Formats: sequence, structure tokens, C-alpha cells
Amino acid sequence: MAIPPLIVAIDGPAASGKSTVAKRIASCLQIVFVSSGGMYRAFTWRVLEEGIDPADTKAVLEILKVTRFDCGEESGLGTFAVDGRFLTKEELSARSVNENVSTIAAIPEVRERLVAEQRAYGEANGVVMEGRDIGSVVFPNTPYKFYIDASPEVREQRRRAEGVTDSIAARDKTDSNRKASPLVIPEDAIVVDSSYMSVEEVVEKVISEISLRRE
Ligand code: C5P
Repeated sequence: MAIPPLIVAIDGPAASGKSTVAKRIASCLQIVFVSSGGMYRAFTWRVLEEGIDPADTKAVLEILKVTRFDCGEESGLGTFAVDGRFLTKEELSARSVNENVSTIAAIPEVRERLVAEQRAYGEANGVVMEGRDIGSVVFPNTPYKFYIDASPEVREQRRRAEGVTDSIAARDKTDSNRKASPLVIPEDAIVVDSSYMSVEEVVEKVISEISLRRE
């Protein structure tokens, strides 16, 4: 029987450090890393570029219908283009995107399209994917689920250190309270509070838990 691809789900609130950790874990396991938040950000950028009000769900859905998503991989990192355009890190973390991404991500039809793309990554060759609903909705059957947390103060501090203006508290509130796939701690997830841990310590913890479960 074929061995199923390894799928590691990493969820958590904004700026909990999950992206840095997930990237390192993917590199250790030699499978692709995907930031699902990057996908929501890229589509948000597209909506804003069209001059559409993110609160105008009808208009957002019109543009969703005609938008092409291209998922790929380069050097172990999942790539994502909207209508053939790859966005820069600066574009994806622009203040306007930070302020509007949670509104766009709360629309069920947007999630449906992007979740299908996210599952395709996992089914292809395995994946370490980070986001808000990866263990609860995208890959509910994987035994490798982690929830990386950190205190609100530490998370604010981390974003400030990156020199990015982010609306962390507002995003967390919208992400946790939306009807469609809210941010939750999956029942069977291992919770890691990274507030006072180094990146290396968190990576080590996650890798050792994965090894235990694979035995
Ligand atoms: O992870 P990141 O902070 O880049 O995510 C940006 C936003 O995308 C989140 O605040 C959330 O609104 C949305 N998101 C989501 N589901 C995911 C990943 C991100 O709704 N799986």
C-alpha cells in the first residue's frame, strides 16, 4: 500500500511565530511549506487593486469568479499567483492588506476556492501548512496538528520588531468570531506557547512530537 503524504497542520493567531516555525519544519522534513494566509492576502490585494470595497461581498464574489489562481512550488516554498501575478512580501504585508484580509477571509465562497487549492498541495507530495483552519477544516484527518500560541503582548512586540503596521487584535477578533471556519484550537492539536521559547526550541518540540507519532 502506498504511504500517504505527510501533512503537518500548524494553526495559531497572528504573529504567533507559526510561519517561521513551519518553514523550518518543512525544510527539516524536506516537504513544501505553504502559508495559507499568503493566499488570502494575495486575493485581498487583488480585490483592493480593483478598487472594490472588501465589505461589498457581492462585488468581491464577482471578482472571485474571474480570478485565476496558480499554485506552485519553488525551492520548497509554495508559490501563489493571482491572474499570473506573483506578489512581493511588501505587497502581501501592506497596511491596506493587513486591515482588510480578515473581512475577505470571512467570506465562505472565498474560503471554498482557497481550501481546494490548499488540499491539492497536501495531496500532491505532502506539506507543512500554516494558517487558522488547517487542522480543523483543511486537513482534519492528519494526526500532525499543532497550535502555536503566544501572549498578545509578545505578538505585538514581534510585529513591531518586523517594522510592520499590523492590526493584530482586530484580525484575531474577526478570525475567531467569524461563522465560516473560525480560528479554533483543534481538539487533537498539540498546543505550544511560544511566548518565552526560541524558534529553535519550538521547532525541536514540534519535530519530536511528529517523530513520536510516526513511530
Ligand atoms: O497568517 P496570516 O497572518 O498571513 O493570515 C492573514 C489573514 O488571512 C488572517 O488574519 C485570516 O484572516 C486569514 N486566514 C484565514 N485562514 C487561514 C489563513 C489565514 O482565514 N487558514
